[in-house]
Parts: sequence; C-alpha cells; structure tokens
Amino acid sequence: MASTWKDVLEVAVAIELECAALYEVFAKRFAHRRELVYFWMNYAEAERYHAASIRIHQSALAGMPEMGVQKFEVEEDEARTFLAEVRAAREGAEREGVTIGRALQLARWVEEHSAELHGRIQFFKVFPEFGDLLQKMAEEDRAHRDLLASAEKRWAGATA
Ligand SMILES: [Fe+2]
Ligand SMILES: [Fe+2]
Repeated sequence: MASTWKDVLEVAVAIELECAALYEVFAKRFAHRRELVYFWMNYAEAERYHAASIRIHQSALAGMPEMGVQKFEVEEDEARTFLAEVRAAREGAEREGVTIGRALQLARWVEEHSAELHGRIQFFKVFPEFGDLLQKMAEEDRAHRDLLASAEKRWAGATA
C-alpha cells in the first residue's frame, strides 16, 4: 500500500511515542532500583526526542502542497504492524510484569527494528532535508541497541 508523506510521518511519530511508553512501563516496573529507573527513563526520553524531531519536520513541511500517495521503501502496513507489536509488548508488560532480562531483550528488539526502519525508509528521496535526521536517528537507535546488549550482560542474571 502506498502512502502520503503525512501518513508516513504520523506513523513514525506514533512508533517513537509507543517506544517511549514501553520504556516508561519498564521504569515503573523497576521503581525499586534507582539505576534501572534512570536507565529506562533515559531511553524513554531519547524516543520522545525522536518524536519531537519528526514533529518539527512535520510542521516545517506542513505548508507543502499535497503530493498524493507515494511509494516509500517501508510500507505503511509494515510500520503499523511494528507499532502494534510494540504496543502489545507494552500492554503485556503492564498486565503481567516483566523480568529485567526480558525487558532488555524487548528493548533490544525495538531498537534494532526501528534503526532498520529509519535506515530503510529513504524518506529523504522525497524530502532531502530529512536525510541527516533519519541517519542520526538510525545511528542513535543502533547505539541504544549496543548499550542494551552490554546492559544484558550486566543485569540479565539479576532478579528484579
Ligand atoms: Fe527512536
Ligand atoms: Fe532508540
């Protein structure tokens, strides 16, 4: 399914905010361990910042004439599926709780997947001014993923 750039950006913002919400659930879940609250709140803020960056671009583009549907390298359906998966992970963690090992694993999957989407969408083919932003977000999400891998080594054995 082809999408308009407005649809693509709306889903992108929703994904970043859903990731932030997931990390906030983790922060609450581990409220008794200050280092884990700090860790997850940092992650949540980073995703909120991504959402805000996309919003700034949305407002900058708001006056553009409608371009109709376009073919992007990431289909809107695929992005919406990822959004639904992140939401399901958050709801599951809220309902059933989550171990630190599982939380780190989920977050690693989220970061890996969103870095991959940022890298692949090639939104900058339509809007060249988006190139730097998407590259930066992909790099940040990859850095988040790598940090999670080392956090797994540090904390995954611990009970929480
Ligand atoms: Fe992100
Ligand atoms: Fe991230």
